[in-house]
Amino acid sequence: MAKRIIIANWKMNLLRDEAKELTNHIVNNIAVSDLKSVDVILAPTFICLEPVGEIIENSGIELCAQNVFWEESGAYTGEISADMLLDLGCSWVIIGHSERRYALGETNSMINDKIVFSLKKGLKVVFCIGERIEEKNQGKTLNVIKKQVEIGLNGVNNKLFDNIIFAYEPVWAIGTGITAEPEQASSVHGSIKKFISERFNCHISKIRVLYGGSVNSDNIDSLISQSNIDGVLVGGASLDKKSFLEIIKSSGV
Ligand code: PGA
Repeated sequence: MAKRIIIANWKMNLLRDEAKELTNHIVNNIAVSDLKSVDVILAPTFICLEPVGEIIENSGIELCAQNVFWEESGAYTGEISADMLLDLGCSWVIIGHSERRYALGETNSMINDKIVFSLKKGLKVVFCIGERIEEKNQGKTLNVIKKQVEIGLNGVNNKLFDNIIFAYEPVWAIGTGITAEPEQASSVHGSIKKFISERFNCHISKIRVLYGGSVNSDNIDSLISQSNIDGVLVGGASLDKKSFLEIIKSSGV
């Protein structure tokens, strides 16, 4: 079985000392054997990338940024470049998170620019997709996701799909305590994999889809046991030492 992938998305939380403490705790409590069946990736804020990166060096845990800009460098106040993230030791970047789409106005086309540029630079991409509650209620889940994927991956060579992980995060499940039913999530994951493999002509086994949205130590077992769920993207529960370690341990079967 392929390795499960567990990503901690710390969002806009933790000062440097807090991030260091949490990272030290994670590194000191993950057994080498856990990392044989699970890939663990941490996504702190920009200011914490360097200190967290120093702690996880040689631990097998990887570093991920929460955002990137699509230009090489220049007059883009407040933005961060792919080279800057690589310089800080990031191997991954989260792109298309719903909090950026809906609170900050990121469009599918901007997301596409970010994905294309990041892959070109050698960053691996966690590509977030998912529907809002009104779209779900109107039965539009798959249409919304197909559009996000279709535009988001425009111009991406399918040879680069090894460097992309998809994260299905129903917007109504993020930070709400409401999780999608595991079977329902797995079925959406199956449809996402089928659509991408057919549309972009790549083998379905290459497409990895994580679930995100109120994942915690109580619901991880039922989610991770689903065949189409290749791992999880964890927000709130990744800020809690005990919960996050339990999520990792439950995922390492
Ligand atoms: P949550 O966030 O686990 O707090 O719902 C997940 C995410 O937004 O990536």
